[in-house]
Amino acid sequence: MYAPDSSTESSATPHVPWTTYDFGFVAREELAAGQRWSTWSSVAKGDHGPQPRPAWVVTDDGAVDTELGIMKTGKEADVFLVERSVPGVSAATSLLAAKRYRSTDHRLFSRGSSYTQGRRIKDSREGRAAAKGSAFGRRVQAGEWARHEFAALSTLWSAGVPVPYPVQIDDTEILMEYVDLDGAAAPRLAQVRPDAATVTAYYEQLVEAMAVLARRGLAHGDLSPYNILAQGERLVIIDLPQVIDIVGNPEGVDFLLRDCRNVCRWFVSRGLDVDPDELLAELLAQAW
Ligand SMILES: Nc1ncnc2c1ncn2[C@@H]1O[C@H](COP(=O)(O)OP(=O)(O)OP(=O)(O)O)[C@@H](O)[C@H]1O
Ligand SMILES: [Mg+2]
Repeated sequence: MYAPDSSTESSATPHVPWTTYDFGFVAREELAAGQRWSTWSSVAKGDHGPQPRPAWVVTDDGAVDTELGIMKTGKEADVFLVERSVPGVSAATSLLAAKRYRSTDHRLFSRGSSYTQGRRIKDSREGRAAAKGSAFGRRVQAGEWARHEFAALSTLWSAGVPVPYPVQIDDTEILMEYVDLDGAAAPRLAQVRPDAATVTAYYEQLVEAMAVLARRGLAHGDLSPYNILAQGERLVIIDLPQVIDIVGNPEGVDFLLRDCRNVCRWFVSRGLDVDPDELLAELLAQAW
């Protein structure tokens, strides 16, 4: 244990507490509750989002992450609003959505294994732990979903699909572009009632996005008006941990059909004459 040397107390130099020195930098201890030093530099290079990186991404070592509140508690993850900024530099500020996966024992539901058919956890120690269901294993699984979503966001963003830009992944936390509208989080498609022209334009955007996935042999796997954000004229697709390999997964076509049905139901309810079986046929034609 540390014991102060009493002999220095009686030395000629007066004792000055270290906190009164002006070192010209902000002490690390000065972060407030709900703040942390930016985790940008501490994650591995491969855990950053794809290039070309948008100009708004803050990469400074001196940046601070400030948690501004919880946006949504979901079934398997919680989404928080985080500001990443360099104190005193107003240009270096970005708002991010932090999606934090819960360890699988804190989930409100767990996905069936049908989603993961054909997928493997690479590291065999982690694979064995995940299979065993130990506490470590449950954490590995949470990280695995996060990793799968981050990879899907990266691939699809690079392919031009309207998804949030994935900034970084750190264990079970994904930091991504915050999709906002007029200073608040963009509403889910399920919550909006756009005019007929916008409904038509939305459908065209969505079919194009689903077609890009299909051409890569992929389906969202949980597409619905709850996992699509309406950012004004533009739709943004979110919630992609379960992206399915249409060909490799024996139930791939069933997942794609469910996506088509969920999406078409919303468009039909908004007055558009669309048919899920026709949409499925159109997408499958692109996949093969
Ligand atoms: N990048 C983002 N920008 C703005 N809002 C977001 C973003 N990501 C997520 N959200 C909000 O958080 C909610 C939950 O996100 P997401 O669907 O990815 O997580 P989840 O755990 O699967 O939630 P749920 O169980 O509700 O499907 C979304 O419906 C949306 O309202
Ligand atoms: Mg969701």
